[in-house]
Amino acid sequence: MSGWMMVKSSGRQLLRRGYATVAAPERKVAVLGAAGGIGQPLALLMKLNPLVSKLALYDIANTPGVAADVGHVNTRSEVTGYMGEDQLGQALEGSDVVIIPAGVPRKPGMTRDDLFNINAGIVKGLCTAIAKYCPDALVNMISNPVNSTVPIAAEVFKKAGVYDEKKLFGVTTLDVVRAKTFYAGKANVPVADVNVPVVGGHAGITILPLFSQATPTANLSDEDIKALTKRTQDGGTEVVEAKAGKGSATLSMAYAGAIFADACLKGLNGVPDVVECSFVQSTITELPFFASKVRLGKNGVEEVMGLGALSDFEKEGLEALKPELKASIEKGIKFANQS
Ligand code: LAC
Repeated sequence: MSGWMMVKSSGRQLLRRGYATVAAPERKVAVLGAAGGIGQPLALLMKLNPLVSKLALYDIANTPGVAADVGHVNTRSEVTGYMGEDQLGQALEGSDVVIIPAGVPRKPGMTRDDLFNINAGIVKGLCTAIAKYCPDALVNMISNPVNSTVPIAAEVFKKAGVYDEKKLFGVTTLDVVRAKTFYAGKANVPVADVNVPVVGGHAGITILPLFSQATPTANLSDEDIKALTKRTQDGGTEVVEAKAGKGSATLSMAYAGAIFADACLKGLNGVPDVVECSFVQSTITELPFFASKVRLGKNGVEEVMGLGALSDFEKEGLEALKPELKASIEKGIKFANQS
């Protein structure tokens, strides 16, 4: 929603839109994995967000330094670092939004699924704590493989009796960010004006950008669309290879995570028409989880929106992604229930 701006009035943060002035509510955001490659820039970006009043930075090591550093930035939120599992509860208590970039990144030659064995256990532990300390928080899952870690989180929450499908999100915003950037370059349109929905999941061919719905419209050839689709699907791998063993996307992922968390906060605060793509529980296809456009509101997901009209190429892509996405979802569910 454009037209919102922050004004300071006797120490209180206010949101002003037109003539209406509303107090910006207190909002606590926790970042789990805050000292990592994604966590550090994400902590900084969340510190810059005027909708945040408390920023809790949790990791198994190094959070005091990150929190001291980020805490010197002269913006609204109060920053606290929490280190080690015995401080996880305090980090989470009272959180409105919990962002999870914790875990290990890919190295060249690895798929996101190759991270399953390490990250699945990390996510399970963190979600068990969320169920206990802040069961009402919106959870933004970044840890890979997202196609499996979101179902793991759902199972953990179900077992704890706190699952609310409106509050669990796989962050696929980086796929949208990449699709917008690549489309703008190819179509020669201003990137700030571009919108492209990206549906499916968050790994390889499960990432399905819908360039037929991209705006502003452009007359791109079928070859161009194919190439843009492939580049979006392989965007994470492009970064992994360029980093040559030093990890995967951290800066662009942090940016995307910050955009999505901001959308969640706006929704919680009652800003109308907040729509982002996200991997959520879904009935849009026969798969139990699926990324599509989602309207965000005061309780999290307000509406899981449909796919809209697809081109033949996109219809093929949709059918092609289903077996892999289904297997990744089932792998997560199985892990959560057996361990
Ligand atoms: C990517 C990883 C971070 O998309 O999932 O680059």
